[in-house]
Amino acid sequence: MTSEHLQQTALKPVPSVEHVTQPLSIGDLNDLCDATEEAINAGGGFGWIHLPNRNLLERFWQGVLTMPARKLFVARLDNTICGAAQVIIPSKSNEAQSYNVQLSGLFISPWARGQGLSRRLLDFIEKTMTKKGFAIINVDLRETQDAAIQLYESAGYTMIGRHPNYAVVNGDFVAGRYYYKKLQELENIDLINIEDDE
Ligand SMILES: CC(C)(COP(=O)(O)OP(=O)(O)OC[C@H]1O[C@@H](n2cnc3c(N)ncnc32)[C@H](O)[C@@H]1OP(=O)(O)O)[C@@H](O)C(=O)NCCC(=O)NCCS
Repeated sequence: MTSEHLQQTALKPVPSVEHVTQPLSIGDLNDLCDATEEAINAGGGFGWIHLPNRNLLERFWQGVLTMPARKLFVARLDNTICGAAQVIIPSKSNEAQSYNVQLSGLFISPWARGQGLSRRLLDFIEKTMTKKGFAIINVDLRETQDAAIQLYESAGYTMIGRHPNYAVVNGDFVAGRYYYKKLQELENIDLINIEDDE
């Protein structure tokens, strides 16, 4: 078999996405930290600007998993974690916004980009939150995040506002955008059949 033939028959990478409900294995935690570091080095766009110390990063992700109000979702390529996103659910005291969730920190490591993973992750998050009985998903991001803006707008998110001083990057203000998407009508929410993962 020639190397050309081998190249032609190479297996396609297998993408997958999941809601993390158990502690991460050491291997998964390392992959998640690697992916985060690579994405921060490539320009961030999901909060971090400077590369944090590896210990801090590990503790950060472990902390996310211990917070009941945060739901962690990851994307994998050939079983290696290559991206993540968090969903923040409202506190019990926020009855008025009990149907709203906040999407935060969605990223895919540069080596895994351009293969539909963020769209797959976003779609999975929306379906999971719909099943859990939420009606609205909000997201905000820097106006310089062109790829993410394309992603959200093509996924049906509506821009509701712009903040001229949304963030500070390298000593300068950067504008931001606020988006929302209606996941379902309130009357369609079946409170009796909502599953909880905890
Ligand atoms: C935005 C980001 C998550 C996209 O991840 P990805 O897995 O490469 O995206 P996908 O392959 O799933 O593409 C989904 C859509 O995103 C948009 N998109 C992705 N890369 C793009 C690019 N380089 N330029 C413009 N649009 C792009 C397109 O709308 C694309 O849909 P299409 O392929 O039908 O045109 C990734 O570039 C990233 O991690 N960026 C830095 C972090 C960030 O900006 N996060 C958002 C903060 S919430």
